[in-house]
Amino acid sequence: MKKVFQVGSAALPNNVLYAPLAGCSDLPYRQMACRWRPGIVYCEMVKMDALVRHDPGTYRLLDYTIDMHPIGAQLCGSKPGLAKTAARIIEDLGFDVLDLNCGCPVDKVTKDGSGSGMLRTPNLIGEMLSEMISAVKIPVTVKIRAGWDEEHINAATITQIAEKAGAKAITVHGRTRAQAYKGPANWDHIRDCKQAAKNILVIGNGDVFSAESAEKMFQWTGCDAVLVARGAMGHPWIVEDILRHRDGLPIQTRGVMAIREALLEHFDLIIRYQPERRALLDMRRVGCWYLKRLIGVKALRVQINRASSTAESLRAIYEFPWAEAELSQDLSIVGAESE
Ligand SMILES: Cc1cc2nc3c(=O)[nH]c(=O)nc-3n(C[C@H](O)[C@H](O)[C@H](O)COP(=O)(O)O)c2cc1C
Repeated sequence: MKKVFQVGSAALPNNVLYAPLAGCSDLPYRQMACRWRPGIVYCEMVKMDALVRHDPGTYRLLDYTIDMHPIGAQLCGSKPGLAKTAARIIEDLGFDVLDLNCGCPVDKVTKDGSGSGMLRTPNLIGEMLSEMISAVKIPVTVKIRAGWDEEHINAATITQIAEKAGAKAITVHGRTRAQAYKGPANWDHIRDCKQAAKNILVIGNGDVFSAESAEKMFQWTGCDAVLVARGAMGHPWIVEDILRHRDGLPIQTRGVMAIREALLEHFDLIIRYQPERRALLDMRRVGCWYLKRLIGVKALRVQINRASSTAESLRAIYEFPWAEAELSQDLSIVGAESE
């Protein structure tokens, strides 16, 4: 049974959420994801200054279709002077939830104190959230990491700061900035945030790659929702697996031909959305996500990577002897994808 997950004024259909993924959660990715109805699906993060100066490329990252609601946007920035204007633009574009990124580990983002750089200035997180909250009616949330490094774990303190500022939910990625995507996420930090929270919802994130791992995260941390990132790449139906498992129903096994069909659907959405050259590059990246769950497809992966047109890439898929491929049971391959 799917239970509504209420985040402020936004009623999400369930509490399995799909993460913002820079360079990945574009319109075709989200169109694919929405077929399985996660609680919400996020666009890629956008920079506040680029949004405020009406950069067309930034607006394109926020493309969505009407049937995608509830849809989330995520802002990245550290200047309180821009936060209100940027938040209003997001609300005017029709988004249901607005998140503040305090987790991106990339140097070019942290160097001005944005992304995970904000973990070093917890009071600025409170200030940014207050500015955003004062400007919009939609719920404002924040996404953080456990801390800057092992010596500076402060997620529980930030949870309290965010709650005081009026944020409706906090997503906690159980890795530090120093870890980037290496090593396992430490779910104890998520549990600590849940214990520090009074009313703010705590969303657990990190290493949910299967229905079983989602269940474990709920049990271990007591979190209110889970946010799936790499586990949804090439596996857009993971929300269905998680919800069925939770309800004691058998998980539907998707065989090699179902993966082939999903791959073709995703490629079709890319070809409709992107110009030829960009579509070809995107198909290489997305093709890897779907194919890494299969054994015996190396030759096809090479063909997709070498194809000089989208038509050639599609032809490789149609001509491939799919009957010779098999499903892999090894989930460690899924987490190999990172920024
Ligand atoms: C390619 C890639 C892009 C990402 N982009 C964003 C982003 O735009 N905003 C954000 O908050 N986190 C971003 N993340 C982090 C994920 O949302 C998530 O916190 C992290 O991958 C841990 O979850 P996982 O173990 O389920 O993958 C990105 C991660 C990856 C691998």
